[in-house]
Parts: sequence; structure tokens; C-alpha cells
Amino acid sequence: MQNFENFLLNHLPKSQSFHPIYETALQKMLIAGGKRFRPALLLGVVNAYNPLMRDGAYHAAYAIELLHTYSLIHDDLPAMDNSPLRRGEPTLHVVFDEVTAILVGDALNTYSFEVLSNAPFSDYTRVALIRELAINGGLNGMVLGQAIDCYFENKPLSIEDVRVLHINKTAKLIAASLKMGAIIVGREDLLDRLYDFGIKLGLLFQIQDDILDVTQSSEAAGKLTNNDEAKNSFVTLLGLDEALKEADVLAETLIKELESFDKNLKDGLSLLLIEYINRHKGSV
Ligand code: IPE
Ligand code: IPE
Ligand code: MG
Ligand code: MG
Ligand code: MG
Repeated sequence: MQNFENFLLNHLPKSQSFHPIYETALQKMLIAGGKRFRPALLLGVVNAYNPLMRDGAYHAAYAIELLHTYSLIHDDLPAMDNSPLRRGEPTLHVVFDEVTAILVGDALNTYSFEVLSNAPFSDYTRVALIRELAINGGLNGMVLGQAIDCYFENKPLSIEDVRVLHINKTAKLIAASLKMGAIIVGREDLLDRLYDFGIKLGLLFQIQDDILDVTQSSEAAGKLTNNDEAKNSFVTLLGLDEALKEADVLAETLIKELESFDKNLKDGLSLLLIEYINRHKGSV
């Protein structure tokens, strides 16, 4: 992923103005790092089928990371999860102020679509990518998930509704990452299959995140943990043991599905996926 990091550093959001902190604030959370899981998924699919398209694919991988980073900046705001730490760094509303954090989120959201619009693909592919990111990251995707997540604080939901919540706030963007990889390499036959796999993977990813909230220290996670008490998380609703069991069942299903992928896709994704599919194990 070193090349992706270089791409990101070369395409950081810039602003020529007399504003003293705006540009620094725009770049801070991107530079701070993070797992880059969504870019790695997209690039894994592209590498599997057409490594020659990798350089172009960095644009799309970066666009997803921009939208994801915006979602984290807003997620940490006092009105949402009120968190002072992200990616091992103090959050933007703490370092600067709330207005700056809100506006940086807005700017990264729109910048992600600007980056996609400049990606070196056909117009057809560019529009398909923009549509996919908008559908999954927007009003009936991540934003809906965040709306449910915050509205239902201290109002317990059924576990089926929490599945819907997690699929929207987290899984759809993860599924879109895989699907956008398939769009780039023109594998229309794989779009639905990768998307469905990604929804399960993303649901597991969020259940693991719920587990790590109670099993990891803030230092290890690089973000405030033990912060989900008021939330509808798998752990608050089912308890840690049941949440771990749910994660195990999903992990097993995903490993089986991964086995059924063709050799190219297995070669492109296995290493990454095995690491993430198992990340809740040994966490207690
Ligand atoms: C955190 O995402 C928010 C969730 C959807 C659980 P990540 O765990 O991918 O955060 P970074 O990108 O590594 O910081
Ligand atoms: C956030 O879920 C998902 C987003 C869309 C940002 P969380 O609130 O659980 O994410 P963390 O734990 O703060 O990273
Ligand atoms: Mg949240
Ligand atoms: Mg949060
Ligand atoms: Mg969390």
C-alpha cells in the first residue's frame, strides 16, 4: 500500500487562501493514516484482474478513503459520538474547533467526487463509480446508518434493526469498495457477487468494531474506546460472548465464500481478507 500512500500525499486537498488553519485541517486526518481497508479492497480486486489499471485505480481508492475520512470526522463531533481521539491523533474539533471539523468533513465529502470525476477512465466508468460511491456513502447508505445510530441512542433496537443499522453505516461502503474494483476492470459478471460478499464483510467489520470498543484500550485503537454504552451495538444488545459468536459465524461464512472465488480473486484478496475476517479473535 506504499504506492497508495504516495498517491494520497500527492493529491492532498489544497486551498490557496489567507485562512490560517483551513488547509492544515483538511489534510490532518488523511495524513494521520488509518487502516486503509477500503482502498486495499478496491485495489485487491483491480490487482486480481488487471494490474495495469492499478495507477488509475488509486484515484477511486482515494475517493473512497476521502469519503470515509469525512464520515469519521463528523462521527467524532460532539453532537455525534463526541470523541477526542482518532487515528492516534486529537480530533479536529479538539485541535481547532467544531466549525472547522464540520466544514473539513463537508470539503472532503465533495472532494472525493471531484477526485473520481478526474480519474483516468472512460466517462461510462467514471459515472458508474460516482454513482456507486454516492449510493452507498450517501442518503440511503452511510448517512442513513449514522442517522439511525445517533437517533436511537439509549433506545434499544431489535438485533435485526441493528443489522440494518450496521449494513448502512459501515457495510455499504465496504461493499462498494469491492464493487468499484470490479467496475474498473469491467467485470460486470462479478458486481453483485462482490457487493453481497462485501455487505457480509462490512457487517462483520462493524461487529468487530463493536467488540474492540470493549476489549481494546484507546491507545491500541487510536480512538476513544468504551464509548458505545448508549449505542445499539452488537455488544450492548447481546453481550460480548454472543457478539463474538455472531462474528465467528459470519467469519466462517466469509471464509467459505472466499474459497469459492476464482484463483485470481483469491490471490488478490486472501491475505488481506484473512487478516480482517479474523481480527476479533484473540481480542479477549
Ligand atoms: C472506523 O473505520 C469506522 C467504522 C466503520 C467501524 P476504520 O476502522 O476503517 O477506521 P480507520 O480508517 O482505520 O481509521
Ligand atoms: C462509525 O461507527 C461508522 C461511520 C460511518 C463513521 P463507529 O462510531 O462505531 O466508529 P468508531 O468506533 O468511532 O470508529
Ligand atoms: Mg458512531
Ligand atoms: Mg464513533
Ligand atoms: Mg465503533
